[in-house]
Amino acid sequence: MKSKKNDEEKIVNRLKKLASLIKKHNFHYHTKDKPLISDKEFDLLIRENQNIEKEYPNLVLKNSPNNKIGSKIQNKFKKIQHKSTMLSLANGFDKQDIYEFDERIKKFLNYKGNVELEYLCEPKIDGLSLNLTYLNGKLNSAATRGDGSIGEDVTNNILNIKNIPNELKGNFPNIIEIRGEVYLNKSDFENLNKNLEQKFKFANPRNAAAGSLRQLDNSISQSRPLNFLAHGLGFCSEKYKTLVNFYEDLNKWKILPNTLRKKVSSIDSIMKYYNEINNLRSNLDYDIDGLVIKLNSIDNQIRLGIVGKNPRWSIALKFSAETARTIINSIDFQVGRTGAITPVARLNKVNLGGVLISNATLHNFDEINKKDIGIGDLVEIQRAGDVIPQVNKVLKKNKSKKSKILPPQFCPVCQNKTFKEKNEAVIRCSNKYECKAQKIGQLTHFISKKALNIDGFGEKQAKQLFELNYINNPSDIFQLKQYRDLIISLEGWGELSFNNLLKSIDISKKITMEKFIYSLGIRFIGEINSEIIANEYKTIDDFLLSSKNNENLYNVDGLGPKAISSIKDFFSFKKNIELIENLKKHILIQESNKQTKNNFFTNKNIVFTGTLNTLSRDEAKHLSKSVGAKILSSVSKNTDYLIIGEKAGSKEEKAKKLKVKILTENEFVKKIKD
Ligand code: IVH
Repeated sequence: MKSKKNDEEKIVNRLKKLASLIKKHNFHYHTKDKPLISDKEFDLLIRENQNIEKEYPNLVLKNSPNNKIGSKIQNKFKKIQHKSTMLSLANGFDKQDIYEFDERIKKFLNYKGNVELEYLCEPKIDGLSLNLTYLNGKLNSAATRGDGSIGEDVTNNILNIKNIPNELKGNFPNIIEIRGEVYLNKSDFENLNKNLEQKFKFANPRNAAAGSLRQLDNSISQSRPLNFLAHGLGFCSEKYKTLVNFYEDLNKWKILPNTLRKKVSSIDSIMKYYNEINNLRSNLDYDIDGLVIKLNSIDNQIRLGIVGKNPRWSIALKFSAETARTIINSIDFQVGRTGAITPVARLNKVNLGGVLISNATLHNFDEINKKDIGIGDLVEIQRAGDVIPQVNKVLKKNKSKKSKILPPQFCPVCQNKTFKEKNEAVIRCSNKYECKAQKIGQLTHFISKKALNIDGFGEKQAKQLFELNYINNPSDIFQLKQYRDLIISLEGWGELSFNNLLKSIDISKKITMEKFIYSLGIRFIGEINSEIIANEYKTIDDFLLSSKNNENLYNVDGLGPKAISSIKDFFSFKKNIELIENLKKHILIQESNKQTKNNFFTNKNIVFTGTLNTLSRDEAKHLSKSVGAKILSSVSKNTDYLIIGEKAGSKEEKAKKLKVKILTENEFVKKIKD
């Protein structure tokens, strides 16, 4: 054991030495522009560091030079809390998606007949978002998006960006947050890269813009030709009627928005604009990956609110992704966290948009049959954004009989029978929640970045500790201490890495509701649905209790039937309830501190029935929840108010019988808006 400890110490010491050498030479190269050693010598340092890190991932230093090669990108910026959350956007890919988006809005706003809504459309720039705060007309701060609530203070880094004035001229609100995109022109990116040594070159303009903005040495940021285009409004002390009005002010203040923007009012004109911009795309000097479509009326934006992290009033319409051709060498079956068996094509390596690709998902067997995909085929692959590459179509078939891909009848991991659910394309392992692959998948999901985010603990380590029976389910992670001596003596572990792991586990114990829900890995409950649930329930127990009743879940705005049935399924397994109980012993789940306005209906149980006229059911529910009312589906003696629309039926009778107070829609609207 002793010699193991010594070995580990030696490795860490070498890593520390390399980190300090690389840091020193980085500084001389980048900041002073006077390298002390040759490129070759520097390269050797980088390579040695990379090799050691690859071999001993547990010993990687917190300030590994690998994290910040070529610059002083660090996370030591001052934090800034945005006054209103910086949101994300839902994606659409075709006309149908836009049609449905428009229909959803009209339904929510209760617009009937042939109403055409006004939208503002503009290119979606592939950069990073920036939040500018002006107080009494003076630029107070500039912050990156961060996690949407808290960003990094980059005020001193953007001082040279032409389109960001220090002062607003003319009339301005006392407080205003102006949002936009920071980006680099393609030509500037090429020039910047040309002058950087191979190992410091940026992969694309977006990375270059991010790397240039997030420099601790702000003189470097200031020397890079960053651009800014405004595209949104955050908190504002005055009310704008429309986005178009807001953009008029932006023009007056010389914070120019994109001149390619266009106001449109029909799906057809959105699609026409989409084609125009798509044709223009390769001639633009900045990268765009689609359009952003935003409802013009700000009153309506406020009414529509947000679903999870996305506003209901805006959508990104993405351009189709880059493609490449290659050959399928073989097919593997991967069993995921939810038991889904995904066929994965192993490919002849091919370059796709600057990234070397060797695997592509085939999704499921319906897809394989539909596209008639087989081993040895020449295929077209595609990658959109960060998603896993996929096979689009077969370009040339391999005629051999051996090319056919058959669905496995047994799980390739636990050998239990596979099955296919009705109306589902996916084949699953029937050993629900017990198959080894599912368990390891669940563990890996639990510790992943968006869940507990346990540093230094990845799939490899989870697998290793699972195989040795030190962990079997996520709550065992919190009892790893008992295996200290055993783990320390394992391949790839040592005293230091184990202590680091315990520290990271300790840090992860305090967690928000949405992250906790996400970490459970319930099928269909990803980031957005987790956020929706966390917004709905104060505690995890409230959620558990409520999920016993289907109707309660159906009242959660934004939660669809698939998600609901998956939640029911998850909680119908006793082991999953036990898991939550066990986790609660170790983890501190912060109660969601949703702020509600005080109103007549606060803390009241209300039921809606009949057809509402002025409001849609969705909006009525949304408003009720924003004042902390609880919406139930059926009338009981616990109901405080029954709100009746037209053609109210049996619920009204029942309310009368139980002496539940009845309000008309108008009375409801008057009281809720009070
Ligand atoms: S409007 C509610 N307009 O896209 C968010 N965003 O996927 C409304 N983006 O973080 C954003 N170009 O940084 C808007 N013309 C544009 C945009 C744009 C790029 C980015 C933005 C946002 C991300 C969302």
